Amino acid sequence: MGRGSSKIVKRGTLGGQKVAVLHGCPFEELTALGTFRHADHVVKLFLITPGNVAVTEVAEHGSLRDLHDTLEFEQRALSAEHGAYIVMQTLSGLLEMWRAGWVHGDVSTRNVLVFEYDADAPEATRVKLGDLGESRVGERRMRDLRGVLRIVDEMKEQRRWARSMEPQH
Ligand SMILES: Nc1ncnc2c1ncn2[C@@H]1O[C@H](COP(=O)(O)OP(=O)(O)O)[C@@H](O)[C@H]1O
Ligand SMILES: [Mg+2]
Repeated sequence: MGRGSSKIVKRGTLGGQKVAVLHGCPFEELTALGTFRHADHVVKLFLITPGNVAVTEVAEHGSLRDLHDTLEFEQRALSAEHGAYIVMQTLSGLLEMWRAGWVHGDVSTRNVLVFEYDADAPEATRVKLGDLGESRVGERRMRDLRGVLRIVDEMKEQRRWARSMEPQH
């Protein structure tokens, strides 16, 4: 399903429900997932199993980077309005963490998970923060904010690219 720099993420089922199984979670990540299991815009933890394996809800579209890649393959891009919903929800997740005294620590398109995406309905977009591997109690909030700005830059870059791919008249 996915592989980042430190974990391996596989699909699984739990009681008939589709889940994501995260292998190799650092201890801090398990603590963070547990802390934010009721947050609206942080990926939901279902269960921790021995061997530092976390079972969470599945984002059907994978990460925002995965969605970018899928769209790019079709020479399409996220609209500015989709982008706005994505940024707002990413910020909502950060706000939930910051208010509890935490920072995410690794905000990027690879670590924002896409649960709902409809090309014709930007308002249906639903994203949450994933990969809490660098999350800590702390105050490095500017670092989180810089991550959001990088996401905005990447989305702009992708739209520019998609436009350049359109047939020229
Ligand atoms: N809950 C999930 N649903 C769907 N895809 C996921 C989920 N969690 C992770 N992934 C995919 O796996 C990749 C790696 O997961 P991540 O938690 O970022 O691991 P790492 O710590 O190695 O970066 C993500 O970029 C994403 O593509
Ligand atoms: Mg990651």
